[in-house]
This record gives sequence, C-alpha cells and structure tokens, in this order.
Amino acid sequence: MDSIVVTGGGALSGEIPIAGAKNACLALMPATLLSEDPLTLTNAPRLSDIKTMTTLLQSLGAEATGLQDGQVLAMSSHDLTSTRADYDIVRKMRASNLVLGPLIARFGHAEVSLPGGCAIGARPMDLHIHGLEKLGAEIELRDGYLHAKAPGGLKGAEIALEFASVGATENIVMAATLAKGTTVLTNAAREPEIVDLVKCLRAMGAQIDGEGTSRIEIQGVDRLHGATHQVVADRIELGTYMLAPAIAGGEVECLGGKMSLVEAFVERLEAAGIGVEETERGLKVSRGEGRVSAVDVTTEPFPGFPTDLQAQIMAMLCTAEGTSTLNETIFENRFMHAPELTRMGANIDVQGGTATVTGVEKLRGAPVMATDLRASVSLILAGLAAEGETVVSRVYHLDRGYEHVVRKLQGVGARIERVKA
Ligand code: UD1
Repeated sequence: MDSIVVTGGGALSGEIPIAGAKNACLALMPATLLSEDPLTLTNAPRLSDIKTMTTLLQSLGAEATGLQDGQVLAMSSHDLTSTRADYDIVRKMRASNLVLGPLIARFGHAEVSLPGGCAIGARPMDLHIHGLEKLGAEIELRDGYLHAKAPGGLKGAEIALEFASVGATENIVMAATLAKGTTVLTNAAREPEIVDLVKCLRAMGAQIDGEGTSRIEIQGVDRLHGATHQVVADRIELGTYMLAPAIAGGEVECLGGKMSLVEAFVERLEAAGIGVEETERGLKVSRGEGRVSAVDVTTEPFPGFPTDLQAQIMAMLCTAEGTSTLNETIFENRFMHAPELTRMGANIDVQGGTATVTGVEKLRGAPVMATDLRASVSLILAGLAAEGETVVSRVYHLDRGYEHVVRKLQGVGARIERVKA
C-alpha cells in the first residue's frame, strides 16, 4: 500500500487550483437516471469515489464514459438494464444510496443495498426512506437490500425532515422532480451541493424553488431532458488547502475558491489570527509570525462549520496558543484522527462528542495511519509544520476525495511525496 511522506518546516507560497466538488458530483451523477437523454458534467474531480459511482451507474446499464481530459463526465441512461444497486459497490461508498430516489421516480421500482457500517458513525437511511414513503413508495428491507416500489407512480407530498440530512434531501428532491403534483420539503439541507444539484435538475427541465433555504418546493413534471452542467467548487478541498498555509506559514491563493462557500470556516480561521482575503481569482490565505490563537469549533449543518473540516482545523489547533474545544454534532464517531495526532505530540482529550485540544509549541513527525478521508488529510496538514518526517499510511482514503494532493502541495513548496508500496 502506498504511503505519503511529509517533511515539515518551511513556509508555503503560491497557488492551488480547487477542483469540482466530490459531494456535489456524487449527487449529480445519479440525476442522469432521471432522464433518457444524456447528462454531461464539466469540472468533475478525478477521484476514486467518482469512479465508484461511474461503476455503479454502468452496472445499471447506463453509459458513463468515465473521466476524460478536461474533467468531463458524459452519461446516458437511455437503455438501463437493471434497477439493482449491488452490495459489492454500495458497501464501498455510502453515496451510492443516491440512486434510490431517481430509480423509483423513473421506473417505479428499485433494489438498493443498505450501505452498512461506516467508520465515522452509524449513518442510517431512515430519513431517506421516510421521505420517499411520503411520496408514495413502498419500501421493505429484505436480505440487506431496500426493495422499493411505487406501482402507481410517486405523488407530491409535504415532507418535514427530522434532521436536515444532505443525502435525504438529495434523494427526495430528485424523486419529487418526476412525482405527480407538488412536493414541499421542510427542514431541507441547505448545503451548496444541494443548490448545485437543483441548478442541474432545473437545467434538465425540473421545476424547483427554494434551494439553499430550508424549504424546497418541487412541482413534478412528466419528463426531464438532457443538460450540461458545471460542478461547483469543492468547499471542503478549499478549506483543507486554506489550512495548509494556516498551519505551515506563508501565503497561498486557492484558485476558484469563494467566500460564500466557507463563511463559518473563515470566521474561525480569522478568530485564530489567520488572514483571509477574497481576490478576483479565489481566496488568499496568509499567516504571520508567532502561534495562532486557540478557537472553539462546533460542527453544524450548512451554513454552520462543516463536519468535513473538523479534522483539518484540529490539526491547526494542535499548535495554537491556549485550549480549544471542538464539538462534533453531526457524526458520533469522528475523532479517529485524535490518537494519530497525539502520536505526533498533540495534547488532545476526547470525551464523547467533544475534543479538548491544548496547544503545544511543535508537533513531531511520526508514522501515522489514515482512518478516513478527512482524517488522513489532517495528518498530512499536521505533518507540514511538524519537526521531521511524517509517514501517512493507508492513503487510499485520500484518493477518494483529493485529486493530486501531492502535486498540489508540492506546487506551493511543501516537501511531500508519495512512496509506492
Ligand atoms: C454528506 C456528505 C458528507 C458530510 C455529510 C454532513 C456526501 C456524499 N457526503 O453525507 O461528506 O460529512 O453530508 O455534512 O455528500 N442520518 C440519519 N438518518 C438518515 C440520514 C442521515 O440519522 O436517513 C444522520 C447520519 O447518521 C449523520 C447525520 O444524519 O449523523 C448527517 O448525515 P447526512 O447529512 O445525511 O450526511 P450524508 O448525506 O451521508
């Protein structure tokens, strides 16, 4: 298995281009199932999760070219041959469950494996199921699969989500585009990836209002047509690379970044003493001399601080002046990076959903293990400023969500390389 070796020390300087959003793309790709016509996505990121979704769509009989140069993903669901999402693919990636809503909406039935356990928490699908049932689907769990049918077709309904789940919002919105009548979804998730999905669905002929607010109204239509859509910038990749100079020092401009995608995160960075400026080309981040200040962080649904940046900001707070408290409210088991950071000399105490980080002057390089996507990149970030060499193993997690991470960090002067097994 490959590993990544980071040698700490040395300020960063230069530019990092931000890719299209993985999580937006993973919701946009299943939207192809809603129409017979081709759907083309531009600015798609080159990631293994995108390949997994491509494989899933292909297993249903969709044509999906895979990523070509220019980050274009061309898909067509003209001749689907199956409505069954197999365990072998779904277990690799939870977002596979986003084919459920589109398949029931277009074909009136679907069989989708339950994703199963996940390293960062239980992540059930009850909210997806409840919403789709409100639209008239009958869903039964048998042999580890959700067997869904809607013989009379889906019908618009009022659905109130108990929690603003991103995936449930996406599944319900996609299903409702082809339901008869009006669907009103309240307590909907407001993430930029949902706004991006709605933009694409609208380009396909869907009638939707209210994306980006907690009330989304969908007027069902008979059919959707083809479209070409540009995937929004990845706000999590953006936040991750903004933390690189915030941790290692120096000044880096993240090209394609927008303040509106990361406001709550930027507010915490600035409170810690990091400079952030919106430029014509993106967001420029700079760190002066001396240590950053401790800040408290609570993860929340958008527009709050994203859970997907919690591990990375913890890497910065490990060397802050003072004590920071991090409250994780979205996932119950998302501090697996803490023991690894501790191996690098960090002082972290985890009690349930709260981590207390008492800043130390310096971290020291160590062999560490990646446990999930965001945890693994937090170890790389920590390594950028640590004394000596940090060797991160199990980097396949990184390939799921960061394209060219080594090349991008090398481009701003980081001493980092991937070592083939
Ligand atoms: C998406 C993102 C993920 C991010 C998360 C929260 C994708 C592909 N992934 O995941 O990177 O960390 O949003 O911002 O977009 N829940 C239930 N029942 C359900 C659904 C969810 O209890 O039916 C719970 C989950 O266990 C979790 C919380 O709700 O504790 C948030 O989950 P959700 O917003 O659905 O996240 P995902 O869509 O899985």
